[in-house]
Amino acid sequence: MLKGKKIVLGITGSIAAYKACYIIRGLMKAGAEVQVVITPAGKEFITPITLSALTQKPVVSEFFSQRDGTWNSHVALGLWADAMLIAPCTASTMGKMVSGVADNMLVTTYLSMKAPVFIAPAMDLDMYAHPSTQQNLERLRCYGCHIIEPQSGFLASGLEGKGRMEEPDVIVERLEEFFKLQKNADTTDLQGKQVLITAGPTYEKIDPVRFIGNYSSGKMGFALAEECARRGAEVTLVAGPVALKASHPNIQQINVESCLQMEEAALDAFPKSDAAILCAAVADFRPATVSEQKIKRVGENLDIKLVPNPDIAAELGRMKTAKQLLVGFALETNDEAQNATLKLEKKNLDFIVLNSLRNEGTCFKSDENQIAILSEEGRKDFDKKPKTQVAIDIIDELSRWMRRLSVVLLFLLYNWVSPLSANAQELISKVNINHQQVQGTDASVFNNLQQTLEQFINEQQWTALQFQQNERIACTFNITVTKYDATANRFTCTALIQANRPVYNSAYTSTLYNNRDKSFDFDFAQFDQLNFNEEYLDNQLVALVAYYAFLIIGLDLDSFAPMGGTDVLQRCMNLVNNAQNLDFTGWKSFEDSRNRFAIINDYLDEAMKPFRQLQYDYYRKGLDEMAQNAERGRTNVTTALETCLKKAHDDKPLSMLPQIWTDYKKDELASIYKGKGTQKEKQSVYDILLGMNASQSNTWDKIRQ
Ligand SMILES: Cc1cc2nc3c(=O)[nH]c(=O)nc-3n(C[C@H](O)[C@H](O)[C@H](O)COP(=O)(O)O)c2cc1C
Repeated sequence: MLKGKKIVLGITGSIAAYKACYIIRGLMKAGAEVQVVITPAGKEFITPITLSALTQKPVVSEFFSQRDGTWNSHVALGLWADAMLIAPCTASTMGKMVSGVADNMLVTTYLSMKAPVFIAPAMDLDMYAHPSTQQNLERLRCYGCHIIEPQSGFLASGLEGKGRMEEPDVIVERLEEFFKLQKNADTTDLQGKQVLITAGPTYEKIDPVRFIGNYSSGKMGFALAEECARRGAEVTLVAGPVALKASHPNIQQINVESCLQMEEAALDAFPKSDAAILCAAVADFRPATVSEQKIKRVGENLDIKLVPNPDIAAELGRMKTAKQLLVGFALETNDEAQNATLKLEKKNLDFIVLNSLRNEGTCFKSDENQIAILSEEGRKDFDKKPKTQVAIDIIDELSRWMRRLSVVLLFLLYNWVSPLSANAQELISKVNINHQQVQGTDASVFNNLQQTLEQFINEQQWTALQFQQNERIACTFNITVTKYDATANRFTCTALIQANRPVYNSAYTSTLYNNRDKSFDFDFAQFDQLNFNEEYLDNQLVALVAYYAFLIIGLDLDSFAPMGGTDVLQRCMNLVNNAQNLDFTGWKSFEDSRNRFAIINDYLDEAMKPFRQLQYDYYRKGLDEMAQNAERGRTNVTTALETCLKKAHDDKPLSMLPQIWTDYKKDELASIYKGKGTQKEKQSVYDILLGMNASQSNTWDKIRQ
């Protein structure tokens, strides 16, 4: 495995420096090329002549030659190497590496190194045990260095204890092993994939100087991120407060502190991710209030009221589409497998990684971990290993699930194109045709229209998204025919279009859209077939239902992820542009401030972004949350109204969207605040709603009561 590998060997001022000769011999015997970089102190222990004779290369030691001014490029060495090994590594060099004191060629080369770095410390037992040395070692581990632990035995000082550099042949073996693992892993199996990983603890503030936290070091999550990136994935790593920094350029590290911040970053990244691994140890509770001043010691006890934090895993589980994978972690102290299985099901995870606190020297802070993976396929147990290798096992499993998913999706795709497809499309609609105002016409034309429309809306695959049967969006098209010209097959109608969204964890459904289209006019002859061609729109009836299909799906997606519906709403706008040539009203700009153009144009207007955000903050953070915690959900609704709705109205006062929205939300809003909330909260909500929709003042009065 070392054949052809380029190794920079750093040697420092330790009595063990002579052993570097054996390391060179072992590496070269295995086919590696070795370039020695030695510290000035190192040269007191072993001569450069010996080293250059063994490596057949001049030894690098000084920055430049006093003789002729030529200089050595540490940057070039950093790029040249496949690995850097510092053996022996003194306490002094470790300290310099940690704090970036680049006053010799070795430390300078280390700081420029692009390849993995291995460190084999060597020193007297007391030097090794000293807290400074131990802290430096820990920091170097955090920076991603591989530490080859020293052994216990007789030391040059005459004492006996831990500090003796690992034997040269073992050191060479460690490098061999590393390159073997690197070769074994299919390095491109995650190419083109986006992976979201959460890592570390969360800190929940009590006052400016105190918090509630946990012992998580973030090492496991970081190892997973590095492994995914190494295999070609683009990684978003949302990290709680840890001392780690991701090293791979494909990792975007987002540092957060609290659960709420982690939730926001995760929800933002998840819609564009193929998989999410939730490795962070997120606090289940946070203090209900954060004291602005440091809490003083008064009296005997201090009671801190805790409120539940959002359950990020469960939230992502609800958002997860059929194309995404979700992996969770469980740390259990009792009934491990049973609790982990429950979590797997409850949070809609694909598999769960079980850690046990019962295994000594694993889990928190440790470099090792022993895991089991549980899924619908059963349980797989793994040996205790370094976290970097545990990460390989977990990502191997993820990669396998991704391949499995591709096969399932291909199968579904095959079924979609089949006319016998029984898969769920996005909408489940009900069409009602009210033709009471039209006399003397055979009702069969209206019945045929109703059936044709309903079938068309429900069977059309409007987007590439895969909806589960229970995720379909229920909607109704109530079409009132005011005039029917049988000769021209022309229908003059108004239509009330409604869509509902379920509130999670409750039996309640909330109105997602409810608005009247006052020029829902079209031509339709009995037994006409409806076909949708997005690029070439030549049928007004198809254009009308496609418009509402995209609008409703876009709003639904917005309600599950901030701005989640952008792509679909953009298709709705494109459709309006393509419909400009249809000879019907409702599509043109400036024709009417409530027509189809005006509505979709406002949804996509930069100034109306707060209104889009409102969909998420109101439904997801507000109503869905309310089903679990009424108080918190209502507070979130208030915040959504005070920030998003008000801002949208302030920024674009002429837009009709806030008014339309408050029209169909009025009863729900009244019931949210009826008999609940503080007077201040009620007054604030009342003022906002009255300011943008005075016509509903009777309902808003109920809020204040
Ligand atoms: C005989 C002798 C042996 C030493 N052995 C070690 C050693 O094994 N480990 C160590 O950390 N320092 C050792 N030192 C101290 C280092 O040589 C000293 O801290 C030096 O500044 C290290 O410089 P460098 O890390 O730049 O090579 C030793 C010193 C002497 C005189």
